[in-house]
Parts: sequence; structure tokens; C-alpha cells
Amino acid sequence: MDILLLGSGGREHAFAWKIVNSPKCTKLYVAPGNAGTAEIAENINLAVSDFEGIAQFVKEKNIDMVVVGPEEPLVKGIVDFFQSKGDLKHIPIIGPSKQGAQLEGSKDFSKKFMEKHGIPTAGSQTFTKVNIEKGLEYIDYQETPIVLKADGLAAGKGVLICKTHEEAKDALKEMLLESKFGAASEKVVIEQFLSGIELSVFVATDGHHYRILPEAKDYKRIGEQDTGLNTGGMGAISPVPFADQEFLNKVEKRIVIPTIKGLENEEITYTGFLFIGLMNVNGDPYVIEYNVRMGDPETQAVLPRIKSDFVDLLYAMGTQQLHSYPLEINDFFTSTVVMVAGGYPEDYRKGDIIFGLENLLPESKAKVFHAGTKLSPSGEVLTNGGRVLAITGKGQKLEEALENAYAQVLKINWNGAYFRRDIGQDLLNLKK
Ligand SMILES: Nc1ncnc2c1ncn2[C@@H]1O[C@H](COP(=O)(O)OP(=O)(O)O)[C@@H](O)[C@H]1O
Ligand SMILES: [Mg+2]
Repeated sequence: MDILLLGSGGREHAFAWKIVNSPKCTKLYVAPGNAGTAEIAENINLAVSDFEGIAQFVKEKNIDMVVVGPEEPLVKGIVDFFQSKGDLKHIPIIGPSKQGAQLEGSKDFSKKFMEKHGIPTAGSQTFTKVNIEKGLEYIDYQETPIVLKADGLAAGKGVLICKTHEEAKDALKEMLLESKFGAASEKVVIEQFLSGIELSVFVATDGHHYRILPEAKDYKRIGEQDTGLNTGGMGAISPVPFADQEFLNKVEKRIVIPTIKGLENEEITYTGFLFIGLMNVNGDPYVIEYNVRMGDPETQAVLPRIKSDFVDLLYAMGTQQLHSYPLEINDFFTSTVVMVAGGYPEDYRKGDIIFGLENLLPESKAKVFHAGTKLSPSGEVLTNGGRVLAITGKGQKLEEALENAYAQVLKINWNGAYFRRDIGQDLLNLKK
């Protein structure tokens, strides 16, 4: 099968690595890809939102399946675009329809979906400029802290956790009246604060059937002990020691099943991955948010744990055959450590030469996934983004997975490289 994968991050390098390791893949193209995907596949200079360009390429090369990595083209409707073209609609495309992508593209849509289908989540109400007075009043009746969420995509910056009523009211005014997050904050969801520990559960679905993939916990802040600014993600581990079978059964029964049934009942086409951000509140799962694609860097921890054929999984999703796909999971632990450019998530440099990429541990111990990298004309690997590399260690125990990840991290360097040294440390005493 000849496959086209869209995206350029660490998530996509991990997808590409799983795809080319399957005997079912004859050729893989990645658009636009990075220096890591260039080593194992052919990078194509096409932007993920260039639907016409992508369609033309798919026809020219007779592509058999398209896999969409990031949310942006999904929210913009790439799947509907393909399905509206007579000569493309027979090609499996892995990703939800534009309407399905609203589960991530609109917090208000996803809250209404959860309420309608009885899925546990924080209580909330949505307000706009028109009824801001009601919103300010609503805040008065809430217990602090109060969570405010811009409705639309806001690059992970649209959620504010306000400690006082005053702070929440000021934030609501800034979001609705001063367009703090542009069009994304024309609507604001005000919700109850949930206290607990976060984790993420990943589901593959063909719109009717589902398979639950390994869960993961990520590390969002730039600083150790979860301090400092939020980032796209500084690390992840899988499995999650505090997510025991009883908890995961509750997730399946209370969240996964009603979500898939809800999509079916509302006739929302959804062929793709669903990332469910959860809060474990005293042993009960509540949905914090849905994302309509895999997470980055969680993918780099989750995919190595999938033992059964990955291309078969994608194809079963794309052809509504998931009920006959035998998902098998490896029982080892994985831990992913993200190496970032100095200064990230604020201003950072690009174009530094990365040293040590030839010093690789065997894949049985660690795997280096590229995120923000590119090749120089002379073939050197250069930094090309804030998050540069994601290194996944494997081990029979979490400690060993972490040791292997850090052993590999320490062999790699560039001017200004930074990584957190405490990934997984909070969980070491809670072993599964
Ligand atoms: N209701 C809530 N209670 C407590 N924390 C929350 C709540 N909603 C969001 N958060 C925190 O804010 C983070 C970002 O919120 P989320 O809904 O995942 O938005 P996004 O990822 O789109 O920025 C979450 O990972 C969580 O740490
Ligand atoms: Mg989130």
C-alpha cells in the first residue's frame, strides 16, 4: 500500500516509523515532514492545509490511503473535501469529518455533545458578547478557582484558571470584548474546576467500532516539578500507574462507549483517532477535553506499545472493519523526553546543528523521534522548531524506560538544548 501522511512533528515521525515498519507499506510520503521522516520516507513539499495540492498529489501517485496527523486540516474539513470529490472518495482517509473535528475545534460544541450524551465532565455554561452580563453574574455564583475556555483553537493558550471572581470577570471581559484570543474567544465556556490527576486515553474508531489504545500521562510545563509556562508537551509516559483496570473500565463504559454511540446517533462521520483528556477525580473519570487526533508527545510513547500491525489498524479504521482488527499491546513501559531549543516556549533560535545523532542506542532501548528538525543543504540536521526531538525509552519497568530515555538524551546536544530531568519522577512510587 502506498501511503501519504500529513504533518511534520514528532507525532508524525512516530507514525511514519510505525508505518514503514509494517510489511503492508510499499511506499510512504510525508507532507511536509522533517529530517527524521526524510530518513525513512519521502518528504513532499506540500502544506497540510493545501487541499488542492494534496488531492493532485494523491491522484498523480495513486495513493492508497491518507493519514492526517494534526488537527488544523481536520478542523478545516480535509476529510469532507476528499469525500466531495468523485475520484477521491474511495480512498481511505484517516481523520474525522469537519463536524466530528468540532469536538476539538469548538469547546462549546464538545461540552454540548457531552451533556447530550451523559458523558461525565465539569459543569459549564457558554457566553458571548451578547449575554456577557449573564456571564459576569454566573461567575459570582461559582466556587473558585473558575476555569474560562476560549471556544476555538488557541494553540494551547486559550484556557485560564482564575483564582478569584474578580480575575475571572476581568478575563471574561478581555476574551469577549477585547478579542484576547481573536475569533477563538467570541464564545467563552465557563466551567467548574476539577481537582485530581490528569491522564489521556486514546481511541481508534471507524465511527462504529473502537479500540482503546494505551493511555498516557504528559508533562506540559517547561520547568521541573511542573513550573513555568505551558508548552506543547515536554514528555510523556505509558502505561499510567494510577490508571488501574477498574478505572480504565469506567472510562470505557462511561466515556468511550457513549462517545462513539453519540457520534453514530448524530450521524457524525468519524474515522480516526480520538484523544480524551481526563481528570481522575477520586477514582472517577471526567472529560477535560477531546482532541480529534493523537497527542504530541503522547504518540511517541503510545505507538511503540502497539504490537499488532499498524498499517492494518489504519486500514481497518478507514474501511469500517475495526471490529475484526486484533489489537495487541506490548506490556513494556515507555517514557518520552522532549528536547527543546533554549528559550522555548518563548522566543528561541532555529538553525543550530544537532550533534550526536549518530550515537544511537538500539531500538530495544530507545528511539529518537524528530520534531522540529530539517536537513541543511550539506546534510546536517538542524534545529527548526521549539520542540526539536522526542526521545522514547523502553523498559520492563518505568525506571528502566526512563534510564534508557535519558541515556539517549545525554548523547545528543546542540547550542542551547534543554529538557526536563524529572519526567515520570512523580509516578515512580505508584508502580503498576
Ligand atoms: N475543568 C477543569 N478543571 C481543572 N483543570 C482544568 C479544567 N479544564 C482544563 N483544565 C486544565 O487546563 C489544561 C488545558 O485545558 P484543555 O481543555 O485541555 O485545553 P487546551 O488543551 O485546548 O488548551 C488542562 O490540561 C488542565 O490542566
Ligand atoms: Mg488539552
